[in-house]
Amino acid sequence: MDQYAHNRERLLTSSRPLPDFEVVGTKGPWLHLASGSRIFDGSSGLLCTNVGQSSPKVHGRIERQFFRYSFGGAAVVQPHIQMELMERLCRAVGRPDDYVALTTCGTLGVEVAIGLARSITRMRDGKRRGDILTSTLSYHGMSALTLALAGNQARKPRPEDALGIGPGFPAPYPPTHPHDERGCNASCADEIANEIDRRGPENVAAVLIEPVNGTTGGAFVPPDGYLQRVSEICQERDVLVLHDEVLTGMWRTGTPLASQHWEACEPDIVILSKGLGAGYTSVGAVLVSPEAGQWLRNEGADPLPAMGTMAAHPLMAAACLGVLDELEAIDLPALPERGQRLGQSLKTLSGTGPVRDVRGLGFLYGVEVTPGTLWPLMRAAEERGVFFYPFTGAGDPRSEGLVVAPPLISTDGDLGFLTAALTDAVEAVG
Ligand SMILES: Cc1ncc(COP(=O)(O)O)c(C=O)c1O
Repeated sequence: MDQYAHNRERLLTSSRPLPDFEVVGTKGPWLHLASGSRIFDGSSGLLCTNVGQSSPKVHGRIERQFFRYSFGGAAVVQPHIQMELMERLCRAVGRPDDYVALTTCGTLGVEVAIGLARSITRMRDGKRRGDILTSTLSYHGMSALTLALAGNQARKPRPEDALGIGPGFPAPYPPTHPHDERGCNASCADEIANEIDRRGPENVAAVLIEPVNGTTGGAFVPPDGYLQRVSEICQERDVLVLHDEVLTGMWRTGTPLASQHWEACEPDIVILSKGLGAGYTSVGAVLVSPEAGQWLRNEGADPLPAMGTMAAHPLMAAACLGVLDELEAIDLPALPERGQRLGQSLKTLSGTGPVRDVRGLGFLYGVEVTPGTLWPLMRAAEERGVFFYPFTGAGDPRSEGLVVAPPLISTDGDLGFLTAALTDAVEAVG
């Protein structure tokens, strides 16, 4: 019996009906319920609990820092633990010399990245350079600015509240680009060149893009060569490339960064969040390449945009170091192959029952279903011991489906359980 059932409406955090299961304990990727049963976390919570829950390593790090000092903003005490995190994170994701801004969540990471990009291009070029281009199928956060900028169909603000801005180019995905992943020569990236040229490159600071689509379209993967072409187009025009890896970063797609699946598309700025705090802490990190970052310390540069009270909290840094400890204990080089195996078994569902398509990479898949069947399928999966995250994309009617994104610490047995339960649920929904 839920003692709060009568006033659920007052908690304004989710538009979807609140789940009915009460969790009384966790172990890795499993949640133990008040009913005595357990349920598998098939979506890593909100795509974040990458190393599972109840980690003694994370707990130990937070506890040690708590008793050393629990608050110490970088402006009042030496930010040792934040520096330790910066060094370790940059090495872990293969960008050892980057400048780093720490923020309190993914949304603020994106906002800070936008501020830094504008600052960098204006210092460098002395020009207007303010525009930020995003794609028509994208999500970059929940603030007024990021909602207005992005092409999220479900959470779009009313036109009168959209600050006069909006997405700048069509996403290389259905329904705008109904080609399959391999059949395209990536010429759709030229739409970005056209838009920059239409606005005048001197007015554009950056292109902001999710290297692999997250929850808006359901894990669409760009055509080979697309991200490289985007980088070339931007370089030719002195426009910065910002990769929003809030969801896809930290090995979610099998590699430290999703962009590392392709050659020659390293961004100037990358934003990390979900898998970095891994659900233990709210956090965002903005990594800026040395070439771009050097402009931020020039005399006359704008004030840094990441100076919030909680921006670089020591307990947050401690938790992230614990997450990195956990990640180090995983066989990371084996992740791409394990992810591929997961993808292969999920892809056998494509075309069966309500399943229209399965796409994705590593430990991130979108299972698109016939409109109207999403919620029955979610329920059927939960009854079989696994939950997922829903997505709604673009089109009319809007595409919909499940995001399948188990924690990276899942065993082969766990992944087998997940696919068997989903297969059974798909059959039941028919
Ligand atoms: C790609 C992407 N960018 C930004 C965000 C915003 O992050 P947060 O919810 O931590 O503010 C999200 C969250 O889902 C996301 O998926």
